[in-house]
Amino acid sequence: MRLIELIEVDPNAPAASKKTENEDTEFQLPEQMGILPIRSAVAFPGTVMPLAIGRERSKKLVSDLIPQETIFGLVAQKDPEIDDPAEEDLYRVGTAASVLKVIKMPRGSINMIVHGIARFEVIEYVASEPYLKARVRMLKTRTRRTKQLQALVMSVRNTANRVVALSPNMPEETSMLLENIQDPSALADFLAATLNIPLEEKQELLEQLDTYRRLEKISVALANQLEVLELSHKIQGQVRESIDKSQREYFLQEELKAIQAELGQDDRRAEETKEIQAQIKAARMPKEVEAEALRELDRLNKMPPASPEYSVLRTYLDWMCELPWAKATEDRIDIARARRILNREHYGLDKVKRRILEFLAVRQLNPHGKSPILCFVGPPGVGKTSLGRSIARAMGRKFVRISLGGIRDEADIRGHRRTYIGALPGRILQELRKCESKNPVFMLDEMDKIGQDFRGDPASALLEVLDPEQNNSFTDHYLDQPFDLSDVMFIGTANYTEPIPPALMDRMEVLELPGYTPLEKLQIAKKYLVVRQIQENGLKKNQLTLRDDVLLELIQSYTNEAGVRNLERTIGSICRYAATQIAEKKRRRMTITAKDLPAILGPRKYESELALRTAVPGVVTGLAYTPVGGEILFVESVMMPGKGQLLLTGQIGEVMKESAQAAFSLVKANSATLKIEPQVFEKNDFHVHVPAGAVPKDGPSAGITMFTSLVSLLTNRPARPDVAMTGEITLKGFVLPIGGLKEKILAAKQAGIKTVILPTRNAKDLADVPKEAKSGLKMVFVSNAQEALETALEPQNKPSRRPRRKTASTTAGGAA
Ligand SMILES: Nc1ncnc2c1ncn2[C@@H]1O[C@H](COP(=O)(O)OP(=O)(O)OP(=O)(O)O)[C@@H](O)[C@H]1O
Ligand SMILES: [Mg+2]
Repeated sequence: MRLIELIEVDPNAPAASKKTENEDTEFQLPEQMGILPIRSAVAFPGTVMPLAIGRERSKKLVSDLIPQETIFGLVAQKDPEIDDPAEEDLYRVGTAASVLKVIKMPRGSINMIVHGIARFEVIEYVASEPYLKARVRMLKTRTRRTKQLQALVMSVRNTANRVVALSPNMPEETSMLLENIQDPSALADFLAATLNIPLEEKQELLEQLDTYRRLEKISVALANQLEVLELSHKIQGQVRESIDKSQREYFLQEELKAIQAELGQDDRRAEETKEIQAQIKAARMPKEVEAEALRELDRLNKMPPASPEYSVLRTYLDWMCELPWAKATEDRIDIARARRILNREHYGLDKVKRRILEFLAVRQLNPHGKSPILCFVGPPGVGKTSLGRSIARAMGRKFVRISLGGIRDEADIRGHRRTYIGALPGRILQELRKCESKNPVFMLDEMDKIGQDFRGDPASALLEVLDPEQNNSFTDHYLDQPFDLSDVMFIGTANYTEPIPPALMDRMEVLELPGYTPLEKLQIAKKYLVVRQIQENGLKKNQLTLRDDVLLELIQSYTNEAGVRNLERTIGSICRYAATQIAEKKRRRMTITAKDLPAILGPRKYESELALRTAVPGVVTGLAYTPVGGEILFVESVMMPGKGQLLLTGQIGEVMKESAQAAFSLVKANSATLKIEPQVFEKNDFHVHVPAGAVPKDGPSAGITMFTSLVSLLTNRPARPDVAMTGEITLKGFVLPIGGLKEKILAAKQAGIKTVILPTRNAKDLADVPKEAKSGLKMVFVSNAQEALETALEPQNKPSRRPRRKTASTTAGGAA
């Protein structure tokens, strides 16, 4: 619809209505009229339209008309391009009109506003100069006022109103005007003039004299127009919405920039951004990770630096940049050199060292192959951690270690999500950042002490860490990006393997470090500990001499351990004593002898209790295997008047209880051969106790000791003080093999035992026990419990020994 056509808003005005074409209009057309051809428009009766007059003939017509206020004819050109149209270039039907206003424009052109009055048909043209003139006949429209027409008018009005509402350029009055036009034919003409349809269709509407048909056509055209308008409206809405959003963001960002510039932060910020960007590049992350880091940097840039989110994101980016994504030390694997380093730093441990060298050799041949994860298992102080350090040195790698003792939360391994306040990556990534290398030797200490609580299971996180199939994309919750751990060499350590979850055990190759014999300890002390302690306490090598007998006395009477940690500490005490003496200028240099020890360290801590304890019948020495190495233990039995019940105490577990019961039954069943009165069992209650009562104990290997203890009690034969035993028994008296043989033998020797009674079926395991541990020890193998008795107990008729204090003699002989 064109705006200009709506200038005239009063078709019912008196002048117009008088002249408006209608069935009952009196209005008459003159027989001849001047004809004004119009281009690209059709004039309709009852409407007003502007005309620009340019052509010479038209101008002449207009100048003739004006003074007389004559009516003239408006006829559309078929082809708007023609400048000087002849008869045949014009439509035959047109609209008679009168002039409302003429405006003379500069340069001789004329604009005028005309008002359509009635339809006419050209009968014939009578002149073409100075302008077209024709004989005409007025055409009358036909309006039959039916119900259909009424309905059609209503619907057309409705549609037209909606079109008006959706057309942004329509003045509001238009809909008022629509309401005001009562005559259906006038309404049709008004709408026809405003419709946006091709010229020919408009002409058709003009020529259609039947009002109903005309309105029908208009209705269709209006509906089309409405559809187009609605569609364009919808499209506009969508476009506006998207523009609004991006405009808003743009606007806010510009505002933010302005604020930052005002605060002078702009430059600093730009610099910082550049710096971080450079750091990200320098970190040489994998492509996707780098892209993510840059995205986060972009996000950072849009944040006000004072916001808490800013510092969280900043810390995150720092972490990303500082992790050793590509930093690694170069492996220097040279087997001969590695062997030298291992031997230089550790005494003995031949089997373990050999395995380590094999491991390194395989690494050297196949650097990217998947190697097993080693796990060192053994009592405290046997050198597990320090071996790990040596391996790192031998390979030319960095060394890190974390202690898993007390870790109960998965997040300790894997970190907390960034959304938590104060979140950090887990220990694995923390250590890697600290050591600045992605291929360190990474020791997971105390794997047997991993805890577990409601916050998830750290062991399952470790599973992923230790799985060569998965650990090349280890995801820390904080980082939220995969990190490649496959170059890290993990080594686990544990005191014993039982508490380690089986799935974890399955991923590791266990290397046992069982503990040292006194002679091994002596060598370690001479070669490493003394030298180190002398140095650490500020002495010179020649200022302090510790002879072997002193060291052995330390090993046997002042320490009681499988490893050498306490030994080193005790040597440290002696060094400090010597340092004090020397510093006070009392002496230049010192030689410590065994006799000096009580003065320096106090009385001996581990005197043999054997003689003392076993002085009475019913107390027998057994051998136990504990997480911290082998140990001797005592089994004590007493009886008191009662009804034959068996009481068991000393924090003993189910298995140990059962073997006590088995031992008791075995004694009862064999009372005849053992020469025990059967009535004893009916008249007495029996109590078996295993001190120290506060330490939990379990396992079947004390069976033979319990049996011997009960027999000792019932036959009144005290046990020999220098005999110890171990072995599981069956109800039939058979002796079954036990574990931890080496540790038990070491413990026996340490305690001053001379004879050990062992299951026959353990004989083959003796090959694994170091020679010096065996030397001086008598091994008695038994397959039946009763065979143990002659070795273990004093002869029956020998009177009870009087308790007396006596230190067990040692094989090394220096500690009397
Ligand atoms: N065979 C050895 N040769 C030389 N020194 C040793 C040897 N075994 C242990 N040590 C020394 O003993 C000390 C304790 O060893 P380390 O800390 O490695 O024990 P650990 O097995 O890790 O014990 P824990 O189970 O308590 O962690 C270290 O100073 C180590 O150098
Ligand atoms: Mg350790």
